[in-house]
Amino acid sequence: MRYLDVDGVRVSAIGLGTWQFGSREWGYGAAYAAHVAPALVRRALELGITLIDSAEVYGFGESERIVARGLAAAGPDLAAGAFVATKLLPILPLPSIVAARAAGSRDRLEVASIDLYQLHWPNPIVPARTQVVGLRRVLDAGIARHVGVSNHGLGRWRALESALRRPIISNQVRFSLTSPAPRWDLVPYAAERSRLVIAYSPLAQGLLAADQRSAVSRTGIRGMRTTLRDAALRRAGPLLAAVREIASAHDATHAQVALAWVISHPNTAAIPGARTLEQLEENAAAADLVLAPEELAWLTAEAERFDAAGRL
Ligand SMILES: NC(=O)c1ccc[n+]([C@@H]2O[C@H](COP(=O)([O-])OP(=O)(O)OC[C@H]3O[C@@H](n4cnc5c(N)ncnc54)[C@H](OP(=O)(O)O)[C@@H]3O)[C@@H](O)[C@H]2O)c1
Repeated sequence: MRYLDVDGVRVSAIGLGTWQFGSREWGYGAAYAAHVAPALVRRALELGITLIDSAEVYGFGESERIVARGLAAAGPDLAAGAFVATKLLPILPLPSIVAARAAGSRDRLEVASIDLYQLHWPNPIVPARTQVVGLRRVLDAGIARHVGVSNHGLGRWRALESALRRPIISNQVRFSLTSPAPRWDLVPYAAERSRLVIAYSPLAQGLLAADQRSAVSRTGIRGMRTTLRDAALRRAGPLLAAVREIASAHDATHAQVALAWVISHPNTAAIPGARTLEQLEENAAAADLVLAPEELAWLTAEAERFDAAGRL
């Protein structure tokens, strides 16, 4: 595993996303939630994955509870190495609400302190100076050790940071070969200021991982994704061909090439979700896949061509 050191924080370059845990949108069912998901957390820690990302909204708290079960199953030594991140759905991010919701997440996660507490989405109505009062309370009370944002543009990220007058160490955004935009502004900012970009949907929800063994699934939440409509899949043809050729040159899988490209960016970690232990192991191994500069340049060119042809 490779690690990133950012503003005194160390996280694995490949993390584990847990939206899939206990949430209906992915349709993985009760056996997954009861048995596979906690085993994924434990195996992730064994593989050196430390960054585990959840949110209060995933399965309405169920994802956080399953992460807690996984940490317990891993035992105290492995669990001590986890960097547990979760998110507030900031519909009304007033100070008392933020502090109470953070405490709720901490209790469901069964941790002494949340490692990273993130605002899931920007709130354009509540002013930054009000939102940060709650975040400051969460930090001062020790409910969380660090705060971050998610789905924030650079301007909003910086505005919150200057209102907080403390580092907002991360911004979790959609970032993959089909959504390369963060490389233009968020990644340079993170590299310059020792911040972290956390790439969500790094496999474009399976599109970039599909190969001869597995076609991309279009059920549940993925039935709604424009990325996975036929026209987008056709448009992705040259990009997927580049992924395929590079994967074959390295005896790697498509998923590993897609992840290696994301984490080749400075100060960037990726948090793929996983349906099986095999997927998790494959994704963890992507941290050690080093692509040649010309391969990265080819992937970047195809990603930008795909993006320029129509944002998803
Ligand atoms: N902050 C936000 O607003 C936000 C939004 C979205 C996601 N997230 C976070 O980011 C995490 C990851 O994003 P995501 O779940 O949307 O998408 P993703 O990681 O791009 O895709 C995950 C899916 O891809 C498939 N997959 C994973 N590894 C694979 C492999 N090695 N080979 C083949 N298929 C593989 C699995 O689905 P199948 O096997 O069923 O095809 C898996 O459920 C989430 O769990 C969540 O923590 C955050």
